[in-house]
Amino acid sequence: MDPVRNPYSPGAGRKPAALVGRDDALKAWATALQRAERGRADQPFVLYGLRGVGKTVLLSEFRRNAVKRNWIVAQIEAGSGKTLRELLGEALYEPLAELARPGAGKRLVRALRTALSFKASYDTSGTWTFGLDLSGAEGGGADTGILDTDLKKLLRDLSEAAEEEGVGLAILIDEAQDLTVDELTTICTIAHAAAQDEWPALFAFAGLPSLPRILAEAKSYAERFQYSKIQQIDENVVAEALTIPAAQEDAQWDDDAVALVVAKSGRYPYFLQQYGQETWNVAAGPVITESDAERGVLQGNNQLDNGFFRARWDRATPAEQQYLRAMAVDGDAGGPSSEIAARLGKKPQSLGPTRASLIAKGLIYAPEHGIVAFTVPGMAAFIGRQIDA
Ligand SMILES: Nc1ncnc2c1ncn2[C@@H]1O[C@H](COP(=O)(O)OP(=O)(O)OP(=O)(O)O)[C@@H](O)[C@H]1O
Ligand SMILES: [Mg+2]
Repeated sequence: MDPVRNPYSPGAGRKPAALVGRDDALKAWATALQRAERGRADQPFVLYGLRGVGKTVLLSEFRRNAVKRNWIVAQIEAGSGKTLRELLGEALYEPLAELARPGAGKRLVRALRTALSFKASYDTSGTWTFGLDLSGAEGGGADTGILDTDLKKLLRDLSEAAEEEGVGLAILIDEAQDLTVDELTTICTIAHAAAQDEWPALFAFAGLPSLPRILAEAKSYAERFQYSKIQQIDENVVAEALTIPAAQEDAQWDDDAVALVVAKSGRYPYFLQQYGQETWNVAAGPVITESDAERGVLQGNNQLDNGFFRARWDRATPAEQQYLRAMAVDGDAGGPSSEIAARLGKKPQSLGPTRASLIAKGLIYAPEHGIVAFTVPGMAAFIGRQIDA
């Protein structure tokens, strides 16, 4: 069928034509937004799960919902080599610039002044102009250089400004496991203070399955956060990830074609999108048949091997690839790092740096101490398909 009208969207963070199976999380977020507007604070949301399950897409939907309600919203991705201070500062500029206007309320003016000082704390050469003279305004002081002090001041002033505007403040952090321990501790402390002191502020963190443990280690009251494990799409609705986008383009799926793709995908969103895309392209249409689906899955697997898996495999050094091979024996769920070391004929301690580097690259994670697992579903089988170097 016409590739121009292909409605499937494999790719990191790409919005699917039909976002299915996430109603509970979306409803909880929508409720929290309305509660915050009425002065009822909720604990931070934490979305965690494997690569390609749809965390970023869900977090972006959280953002859209907050933006629709005219909230002040910043969405950032940790781990790009920039500090939390800089990422948040830059992400807040645009929403603040949009709010800034002559006759702005006292709290908004104060928040803008504080934001200027925050900007100065990490960027001495650049400055912001909101088109207002803020020289005589209250506020400022978010430039002590102590992250805890500066960020708390900024987010509190912003929350008060949001309240004055009749909205709230939403801070969304993707790949949160990549924040430094200091940054995590700081943001947890502030998020907790926000919930306790009833600021109209909501926080959401997304990241790998190790995120709940990392948060708990950073700060004990992170136990009170609202954790949602993002997984494969529920059996009852998974078919809709294929059928709704097709119907929107005047095409249909045969039931057995859907069943085949669903089964082969393991109900993982990324794989559904990839198989859906390939199947669409090979099908003559307007009805997608089982034999189309068979060819689509074959081609989809090629695409996954050359893209989704390959990109991650190539990120590992030869020594790291050896480690991953030894891990792959146990399947995606991995196993004890001591056994992996034994397989490689090495002492576990000597492999510590390799393991740490693979964790930093987001390829593996530690579900518990002494255990390592793949963050990417299907990675172990992919490695099995690679010819030994
Ligand atoms: N609920 C959903 N329904 C249908 N497709 C989805 C859904 N969620 C995500 N997808 C699709 O799955 C793919 C992966 O989504 P996303 O990038 O959000 O995953 P992720 O969990 O953030 O992965 P990573 O850990 O690699 O960042 C995208 O192609 C997206 O379109
Ligand atoms: Mg993501």
